[in-house]
Amino acid sequence: MRKQIAAANWKMNLTYQQGEQLLDDVLNAKIALKENQLAIFAVPFPYLIMANSEITEEKNYFVAAQNCYSKKSGAFTGEVSGAMLADVGCQYVLIGHSERRSLFHDDLALTALKFKAAQEAGLIPILCVGETQTQRENGETEKVVNAQLDAVLTLVGINAFKQAVIAYEPVWAIGTGLTATPEQAQVVHAYIRAQLMKNNVDIGRAIRILYGGSMKAENAASLLAMPDIDGGLIGGASLDATSFLAICTAAVNSK
Ligand code: PGA
Repeated sequence: MRKQIAAANWKMNLTYQQGEQLLDDVLNAKIALKENQLAIFAVPFPYLIMANSEITEEKNYFVAAQNCYSKKSGAFTGEVSGAMLADVGCQYVLIGHSERRSLFHDDLALTALKFKAAQEAGLIPILCVGETQTQRENGETEKVVNAQLDAVLTLVGINAFKQAVIAYEPVWAIGTGLTATPEQAQVVHAYIRAQLMKNNVDIGRAIRILYGGSMKAENAASLLAMPDIDGGLIGGASLDATSFLAICTAAVNSK
C-alpha cells in the first residue's frame, strides 16, 4: 500500500526567521504521521542546514532542495551539486519543477541529467511533470507528460524509479488558485502510473505520485482520496502552518 507524502515547496519565500518559525509551528503540532507517511520541506538553499537541524529528531520528516545541478563539481558559478546537498543533510530534491523548466530553461535533457546526478549523490528526486493550459486545451496532456517522463526513463532506466517520487503539477494550476478536479488529476496520475507499469509493473505500482497545483486545506482530502494520488506538492498553502497542517492531516487520514 502506498503511503501519502505532504511535500511543502516554499519556493523563494520567507525570511530565515520566518522559515524557522514555520517549521517550529508545524513540528510542534506533533501530527502523528504513520509508518511511511512523510512530510517533506523543500526550502531555499540557505535554509537547508537550519531545516535539517529542526527535523533531525523527527522520524518521518525530511528536507528537500528545490533544484540541483547536473555536474558533480567544477566551474559552474552559482550552481549547487547533489553531493553538496547530501552533505548538508538533504534527502530529497525537486527536479524539473515547471518554474525551472519555463523560467530557467531546464529542458528535457538537462532535467534528465539532473535527475541522474541527484540519484548518484544519494538523493531521492521528486520529478515534476505537467502540461500548460494551451497544451491541455490542445489535447496534448498525455503527450507532454509522456515526453517529460520518457526523457528521464531513457537516460536512467526504469529501475531508477524505485528510488524516486513523481509530482504531477498541471502548470495552469500552479499558484493560480485553479485546481485540477480530483477526477482530472486522477486521469493523469493513472496515465503516469500506467506508463511506468509498461516498463515494470512493480515499480509503476509502488511509485508515489503527488499532485501539485493550488492544493489547499479545502481541496486536499478529495484529491488525496483518488486511488492514484499519493500526496501533494504544496506551494502557497505550505507557507502557513495552519493550512499546511490541515493538508498533512488530510494526508494522514486518507487511504
Ligand atoms: P501552488 O504551487 O501550491 O502554490 O500552486 C505548487 C508547486 O508549484 O509546487
